[in-house]
Amino acid sequence: MTRHVRTAIFPVAGLGTRFLPATKATPKELLPVLDTPLIQYAVDEARDAGIERMVFVSHPSKSAIERYVMEDARLTRELRSRGKEDIAEALSDAALCPIEDDVRFVMQTEPKGLGHAVFCARDEVLPGPVAVILPDDLILGPVGCLSEMVRAYGDGDIGHLVATMEVPEDRVHKYGVLSVTGKDGSIVKADGMVEKPAAKDAPSLQAVVGRYVLDGSIFDALATQKPGAGGEIQLTDAIARGASEIGLGGFQFSGTRFDCGSKAGMLEATLKLAMDDPECLAVLTERGLVADTKAAAA
Ligand code: G1P
Repeated sequence: MTRHVRTAIFPVAGLGTRFLPATKATPKELLPVLDTPLIQYAVDEARDAGIERMVFVSHPSKSAIERYVMEDARLTRELRSRGKEDIAEALSDAALCPIEDDVRFVMQTEPKGLGHAVFCARDEVLPGPVAVILPDDLILGPVGCLSEMVRAYGDGDIGHLVATMEVPEDRVHKYGVLSVTGKDGSIVKADGMVEKPAAKDAPSLQAVVGRYVLDGSIFDALATQKPGAGGEIQLTDAIARGASEIGLGGFQFSGTRFDCGSKAGMLEATLKLAMDDPECLAVLTERGLVADTKAAAA
């Protein structure tokens, strides 16, 4: 059985209710962190991980996502004709090309949950394991989280690998949580997983964040998956069902995760990137929002 991960699924059909009114007319995946929309970070992470096919599970009301991720030849031409060669080049490098890149869009018209969204992609995936990326979990670091996971998956024999991090007890109810059995390097071994447990019922503090590498059998599990937490078809439940047979691991990634589905997480991610941008850092320093590093060094 191949352990080569060729497909990434991006569930982007959600209505973004946590971010209204910003998401009334703009999909949450197009909200920028500094100047780059969330979906761009996700696409770049998949590209860096060597993904061949990208499947976007979107919603008819969110056609702006397709317009954003795909190359806009007219806009590029227009920019070039105005002498804006650099901008045209950057836009075209960031975008997916309908000829060179293998991209699919499928629609999830009913909000039936993350498991259902992934199931909607079943006819579009390449053989073998699949990656799932939730764009509102932004993970920043020197190496892309999915690249790290794909490597670990290829080197190991675990069926389902999910990105995890330890969270405080009062936050476990926001996540899928692993039932931990042991540890092997950066992989936490588990024999199950629970979606959004109450703190008192949580099997551990190892919470799942939005990166998954899943054995292809996940689609069979999802086909018969009954609704779970919140009345939705949960990806967590389908993963948990395969745990004893094909193995389940939590991958402790090296980057920092920002919950960009929340205002505070979005602000944190924006500040993190602003600190690396000289112009923004100067503003933050002037306003006294960060220590004046030059003065401190003098
Ligand atoms: C989803 C998953 C959950 C996971 C979380 C990570 O929940 O269902 O298991 O821990 O993403 O962000 P959501 O945040 O979409 O409710």
